[in-house]
Amino acid sequence: MIPFSPPTLTEEDISTVVEVLRSGWITSGPVGRRFEERLTQWAGTTEAVALSSATAALELALRAAGVGPGDEVVVPAYTYTASASVIDHVGAKIVMVDSEPGTPFPGVERIAAAVTDRTRAVITVDLAGIPFDSRPLADLLDGRGRIDSGLGASLGRPVIISDSAHSLGASLGQTPAGSLADLTAFSFHAVKNLTTAEGGALTWRSDLPTDREALVHWVRTYSLHGQTKDALAKSQGSSWEYDVIAPAYKCNMPDTLAALGLSQLDRYAQSLERRRELLAGYAEHLAGTGVKLLPHDGEGVVSSGHLAIAALPVAEVSERNWIIQDLYAAGVSANVHYKPLPLLTAYRKLGFDIADFPNAYDFYAKELTLPLHLALSDADVKQVCGALASALRRA
Ligand SMILES: Cc1ncc(COP(=O)(O)O)c(C=O)c1O
Repeated sequence: MIPFSPPTLTEEDISTVVEVLRSGWITSGPVGRRFEERLTQWAGTTEAVALSSATAALELALRAAGVGPGDEVVVPAYTYTASASVIDHVGAKIVMVDSEPGTPFPGVERIAAAVTDRTRAVITVDLAGIPFDSRPLADLLDGRGRIDSGLGASLGRPVIISDSAHSLGASLGQTPAGSLADLTAFSFHAVKNLTTAEGGALTWRSDLPTDREALVHWVRTYSLHGQTKDALAKSQGSSWEYDVIAPAYKCNMPDTLAALGLSQLDRYAQSLERRRELLAGYAEHLAGTGVKLLPHDGEGVVSSGHLAIAALPVAEVSERNWIIQDLYAAGVSANVHYKPLPLLTAYRKLGFDIADFPNAYDFYAKELTLPLHLALSDADVKQVCGALASALRRA
C-alpha cells in the first residue's frame, strides 16, 4: 500500500528526543526556546512562540487581536474546521466566504466584500502550502472594519491572521510565510511537512505596530495558565511565588517535542526540495489524463508543497468517491481536502448552507488529494498516476 502521508522520522530525530528525555528537563525549557529561534529564521520574524497546535496559535492570535463577542471574523468556506472553530471559541461571529470559480481560494476582493463595521479580523489560509498574499488585502481593508481599539486601531484596519498550518518554508518573492500577514499560525501535526507529533507556533511580522516584547510575553503567559512564572523560573532558588493574571489556556509545547522539531528543521530545506520534485513528477505523469493538479508555482511563489491537490475530470461527488475506493483497491491511499465547512454538521447548525458557497462545493466535488511524503519514490509517483488513469478509464 502506498500510504497517504506518514511522518518521516530518522534515527537522528529519535536520539535528539531521547537526549532531552535524559536531560532532566522535559518541558518549558531551553530546547523550546531554541526551536522558536530557528522558526523565526524560517518565518523571517523576530519572535515565535511554540504551542501545542496551530489551533491554539489561531485562538491566541484572535485573542491578541482583541476579538470577542459582538465581533465578526471573515474566513474561507474551503478550509479545515480549525480555521473557523476558533472564531466560535472566542465568542465572535463566523463570516464565511466562497472560493473563486474553479479554485479552492477566495480572492481578496471577495474577502474585502464580506467585511462590515463589526469585522475585527480576517483569517486567510495557505491551502496546500501555497502562500496567500495578504498584502493587497491589507490595502483593500484600510480604514474599514471595527478598529476602535487594540491592534486593529494601530493598523487602521482589521487584523489579518494567516492559517499557515501547511506553509512553513513557503514564500512570496523575498517574503516568507510568517511575514506576509499580521499574525501567523503554523502546524506541526503528524501529517504536516515538519512534525513534532502535535504542535504549532504563533509568530507575527517584525514590523507589527505593537510592543512585540509585550506580545511574546502575553502569548507565553496565556499558553501557561496565565501564570506569571513557568516551572523553570519557579525552580530557581526560593522564587516559588507566582500569580495568575487570567483564567487562560494550557497549550505550550514541551521540550521533548521541540527537540523533534529542531531535528526535523535540520533537513527541512532538503525536504521541501524533494516535495517539489515529487509534485513535478505528478505534473509530468498526469499530463494528458484530464487531471488538473493545483499549481504550486507562480511568479515569485515558492510553495511548501504540502498537498498534491487535484481536480478530476468527473461530474459528481459519487464518481470521485468511487475513484478513491478504486485507488485503494489498487494499493494507493488518497484523500479529500477539504469538505467545505457548510457541509459539516457543526456549521450547518450555525446556519451555514452549502447553496451559498457554490464554487467551494464545485471544487470539492471533483477534488482528490494524492499521496505526498518523503517515503514516496519516483516509481511510486508513476504507479499512483497509472492507478488513477486506469480508475478514470473505468469510472
Ligand atoms: C488548514 C488547517 N488549519 C489548521 C489546522 C489545525 O492544525 P493543528 O492540528 O496543529 O491544530 C489544520 C490541520 O490539519 C489545517 O489543515
